[in-house]
Amino acid sequence: MDIFSPCYNYLESQLGKATGFYPYFRVISSSDGPIVTVEGRQVLMLGSNNYLGLTHHPEVVKAAHDAIDRYGSACTGSRFLNGNLDLHQQLEAELAEFTGREEALVFSSGVLANIGTLGLLGGSQGAVVFLASDDHASLFDGARLSHGRIAIFDDMDDLERKLALRPSWSNAIVAVDGVFSMTGRVIDLQRLVALKRRFGFRLYLDDAHGFGVLGTQGRGTAESLGLSGDVDLMFATFSKALASVGGFVAGDKPVIEYLRHNVRTLIFSAALPPTSTAAALAALHVMQKDPGIFERMWENVAFFKRGVEALGYHTLGSRTPIVPLWIGSEARAFQYCREAFELGLFTTPAMYPAVPKGHAIIRTSVTPAHTKEHLQGALDILETLIKRHPLPQTDPDTLPPARETDIVEYATKVLEDPDFANRV
Ligand SMILES: Cc1ncc(COP(=O)(O)O)c(C=O)c1O
Repeated sequence: MDIFSPCYNYLESQLGKATGFYPYFRVISSSDGPIVTVEGRQVLMLGSNNYLGLTHHPEVVKAAHDAIDRYGSACTGSRFLNGNLDLHQQLEAELAEFTGREEALVFSSGVLANIGTLGLLGGSQGAVVFLASDDHASLFDGARLSHGRIAIFDDMDDLERKLALRPSWSNAIVAVDGVFSMTGRVIDLQRLVALKRRFGFRLYLDDAHGFGVLGTQGRGTAESLGLSGDVDLMFATFSKALASVGGFVAGDKPVIEYLRHNVRTLIFSAALPPTSTAAALAALHVMQKDPGIFERMWENVAFFKRGVEALGYHTLGSRTPIVPLWIGSEARAFQYCREAFELGLFTTPAMYPAVPKGHAIIRTSVTPAHTKEHLQGALDILETLIKRHPLPQTDPDTLPPARETDIVEYATKVLEDPDFANRV
């Protein structure tokens, strides 16, 4: 078989485009933050991860301008060899201090940080990587790349059952999202930490959606619960609240030193560009000196969430600026998105494998850069839509976990192996 035949036989996107409901790769030709221009029309952006609305903050924009003047457009090499800037070092030092860790390590993207770090640590002798079934894809990919053993759990009861196979799990790392990216739900970190204290595994917290949002000045999910000291490695990205691109891991000095010299996605990939590094650093400064930004964010979140729930949308228990609207069938979600766009609203649909089959959502998010008029306009559009296409009266609280079948099958086999408990 020609190895390219899956490409030549791939029809899904063309079918989607033919129906007129294709919502992906929309071309944005300009942006002022809340308002973006798409296909020559101005629409309200309600589908970003710009949680603090900082992409157009004057200090962030100026820092990026200054960086391009000082360093040029790119590093053209990896930090390991020839692309390590004083700006990277400064950002790392400030992130370590901000998160209360000994050291931090900056990567060119969040995905590269997760894949590289978990890919390396999961490959240690006899290691087992435990993943939550609705973790981000990059955690799954890192675990896969490690060639280590993977176990997947659906909730804390399930994790406890699996851990109870052995009295101690010092050879295991549990890697979880602090805030689940599609539903905005916060992980039950207290319970996870209690299990950690009992079974002795290492904890890797992907706080992509909690960093810059939860906790004191946005220090993240663990800090918001007083559990920072129980997290062995914290990860966050710059591509959301920090209004840039890139990511970091932070932890104990020997761990970061080992990662710095061994993670392949750091060593073999070009350094984070000066503009992005400077923008992330400036955003970190804004977070620390403007507490009003968090007040405005939570005020807007409360206003919008109250509004959509009053219209009859179920928001799946989100406690963050991510406001998912449960729609149910995939076809209906495509239709909602298309019509929302025609009425002036940019939203994004989320389907399997990001959410379980038959539980598609429209993922909206609110930022402090939205005005009340913007949000009221969005609510008016969502009211029109729910009147046009009423939603079924099912209970999305019973939402099953989203699971990518192939990896779950693999992990289940690993756990069902009678030798598993003996070998690990
Ligand atoms: C939970 C989570 N982890 C990691 C990432 C990857 O981050 P980045 O976009 O910086 O590569 C994302 C991005 O969507 C995410 O949602």
